[in-house]
Amino acid sequence: MPSLGFCKWIALYASLTLLPLLASASLPDGRLHGNMMHTPSIPVLEMDAPDGPVISRNGTVLPDYSTTYYFDQLVDHNNPSLGTFKQRFWHTYEFYEPGGPIVLFTPGENNADGYYVYLTNISIFGLIAQQQSGCTVLLEHRFFGFSNPYPDLSVESLKVHTIQQAIDDLEYFTKNVNLPMPNGDRLTPDKAPWILAGGSYSAALTSWAMVNKPDVFFAGYASSAVVESVLNFWQYFEPIRQYMPQNCSADIQAVIAHIDQVFTGPNTTAIQAIKDSFGMGELTHLDDVAGALRNNLWDWQSMQPTTGPGAQFYQFCDALEVKDGQNAPVNGWGVDNALAAWGAYFKDVYLTRLCGAQSALDCLGTYDGTQTYWTDISINNSVRSWMWMVCNELGWFQDSPPLNRPSIVTRLVQPDYDMRQCQQMFPGAFPEIPFLDVTPINRVYQGWQVENKNLFFANGLRDPWKDATMSAEGLNVKSTPLQPIALGGGFHCSDLKAASGAADPTIGAVQAKALKSMHDWLAAWKPSKNQRPPVRSPRSTPQGGHQGAQPHTHTKPVNAWSKGSGTL
Ligand SMILES: *[C@@H]1O[C@H](CO)[C@@H](O)[C@H](O)[C@H]1NC(C)=O
Ligand SMILES: *[C@@H]1O[C@H](CO)[C@@H](O)[C@H](O)[C@H]1NC(C)=O
Ligand SMILES: *[C@@H]1O[C@H](CO)[C@@H](O)[C@H](O)[C@H]1NC(C)=O
Ligand SMILES: *[C@@H]1O[C@H](CO)[C@@H](O)[C@H](O)[C@H]1NC(C)=O
Ligand SMILES: *[C@@H]1O[C@H](CO)[C@@H](O)[C@H](O)[C@H]1NC(C)=O
Repeated sequence: MPSLGFCKWIALYASLTLLPLLASASLPDGRLHGNMMHTPSIPVLEMDAPDGPVISRNGTVLPDYSTTYYFDQLVDHNNPSLGTFKQRFWHTYEFYEPGGPIVLFTPGENNADGYYVYLTNISIFGLIAQQQSGCTVLLEHRFFGFSNPYPDLSVESLKVHTIQQAIDDLEYFTKNVNLPMPNGDRLTPDKAPWILAGGSYSAALTSWAMVNKPDVFFAGYASSAVVESVLNFWQYFEPIRQYMPQNCSADIQAVIAHIDQVFTGPNTTAIQAIKDSFGMGELTHLDDVAGALRNNLWDWQSMQPTTGPGAQFYQFCDALEVKDGQNAPVNGWGVDNALAAWGAYFKDVYLTRLCGAQSALDCLGTYDGTQTYWTDISINNSVRSWMWMVCNELGWFQDSPPLNRPSIVTRLVQPDYDMRQCQQMFPGAFPEIPFLDVTPINRVYQGWQVENKNLFFANGLRDPWKDATMSAEGLNVKSTPLQPIALGGGFHCSDLKAASGAADPTIGAVQAKALKSMHDWLAAWKPSKNQRPPVRSPRSTPQGGHQGAQPHTHTKPVNAWSKGSGTL
C-alpha cells in the first residue's frame, strides 16, 4: 500500500524535526531504568500488510486505518477558559450501518501510534463493531504520545494530568467530536450507543468512567481491568509464582532467600561476591541489586497464549533448570546451582539485553537524582507520564509480599523504595518522600465495589495484574448478566486479540460471552427522550494554543474534523 511508505516518511520527518524535544536514552524495553515497573500496557497487535484499501459495507473506499485525526480537547475541564489542545484519534467505519454503536477505546498509558490495528477485527473491539454494525475509535490519552495539553511534562503542566480529567476527556469527546463519517456530528450519546472499551489501566478507566458518567456510555468492555488501586501490589508476582515451571519457582525462592540473608548480614566479602557474580559489582545500594532481579519475572507480562516456546521468560528458567541437557526435578536443583546459574545468565546474557549500551549502574541504580531520566521533561515520554499517575493516584508498586508468604522477590524492596523515586522524578510536587494514599481513588470510582450496568469484565488466570481486577484472589464478586466477570486461562489482556480465542478455547469462550452480552444489551438501546444539547467547545479558541506539542504527522488538515468544519 502506498500509504505505508508515506507513513514511514512522516515518522522519519517527525523524528528528525523533533529530536531535541524527545526523551533521552531509555532501555531497550522502553523503561527509563531497570528498577521500575513495566507499564501495564495493552499488547500491540500485529497486522499482516492489508492487501487492499479499507472498504465499507456498501462499497465506499475509506481512509486507511492509520490516518490520524485531531480533536480539540479542553486543557482543563475545571477551567474551559484555558482553551484546547489537539488530541489524536484514529477511526474507521468499515462495518458501520446507521444505528450502530461507536466503540471508543484508548490504549491508556502509551503513545497510541501503532494501536490503530485495534480498530480492525483483529481485536475484540473490531469484532464487537463487526457484529453490531458499529464503528471503532482509538483516542490517545492526554499526556501520552502527541496528545499533550502543554508542550512539556513539567510538574506545572502535569497538574491537569488526573484520572478525572481523563474521564472528562472521554465525555467531552463523545459529546463534541465530529467523526469523519456520514452523520459523524450526530452521534452523541443521546442519539447513538457508545461502548467504552479498554485493556488494563484503560479498562479500569472504562469502569471508573461508567461510574462517574453513568449517562454517557451505554456499555463497556474491560479487559484485565485493574479497577482497584493497591499501594504495595506484591500480588503482581503471585500468578507468576504459581503458574511458572515449579522447579524454576522453587529455585528462585531459594536464591532470593539466600541473597536477602547475605545482604542483610555483616559479611561484606560475601555481599560483593554475589554482586560481582550477577555483573552488578559497581552498584552500591543493595536494594537496587536485589530489586533488579525482578526483571526476569517482569518478562512474564509480555507472554500470551500465542507466544512461542522461545519466550524470554522460559529462556531464563531454562538457564536455571537445565543442567547437562537434563531438566531439574520439581524442587529444582537447589540454591547452590541456581545461584551460580542465575548469576552467570544475568551477567553474560541478560544484562546486555536489559540495559543495551548502558552500564549496570546507569541502568539499575536509582539513587543518583541527576540522571536525565529523572529530570527530562520532554513530551512523548510515556513512562514519566505514567509515573505521575502512579505516584499521585494509582500505586501498584511491585514489591515483596508479607513475611508469612513465599516470595520470589527480595524483601529489600518495599513501597518506600518506589516512593523515593517519585520524589526524585517530581521534586517540585513532592518536597519530601510522599506517602501515597489510594483510598480516595478506590472510594470515588468504587474499585472492587463497582456495580456497573452493561459492563463486561474479561480477566486472565495467568495475568500478573489479576489481583487488582474483579477476579482477584479471594474477592468472589458475583458475575451477573448486567456486569459479567469472565475468567479465562489467559495472560495480560489476552482476550483483546481475536486470535487468542483460537489459541486457547477458554479465552474463546470469554470472547463469545462478551459478544453475546453486547448483542443482548444493544438490542435494548433507545435514543434518550430528553435529548440534551451537547456541551459545546469554546468556539472562540482558534487553535490548541500549545503548538509544538504535536508532530506534523497529520494526513488530514488539522481542523478538518472539528465541529462544523465542512462535510466529508
Ligand atoms: C515517541 O515514543 C515512542 C515510544 O513510546 C517511540 O517509539 C517513538 O519513536 C517516539 N516518537 C517520535 C516521533 O520520536
Ligand atoms: C475481518 O474483516 C475483514 C474486512 O476488514 C473481512 O474481510 C474478514 O472476513 C473479517 N474477519 C472475520 C473473522 O470476520
Ligand atoms: C453508503 O453509500 C452512500 C453513497 O452511495 C453514502 O451516502 C452512505 O453514507 C454510505 N454509508 C456508509 C455507511 O458507508
Ligand atoms: C564471608 O563470606 C565469604 C565468601 O562467601 C566466606 O568465604 C567467609 O568465610 C565468610 N566470612 C565469615 C566470617 O563468615
Ligand atoms: C523444569 O524446568 C524445565 C526447564 O525450564 C521445564 O521445561 C520443566 O517443565 C520444569 N519441570 C517442572 C516439573 O517444573
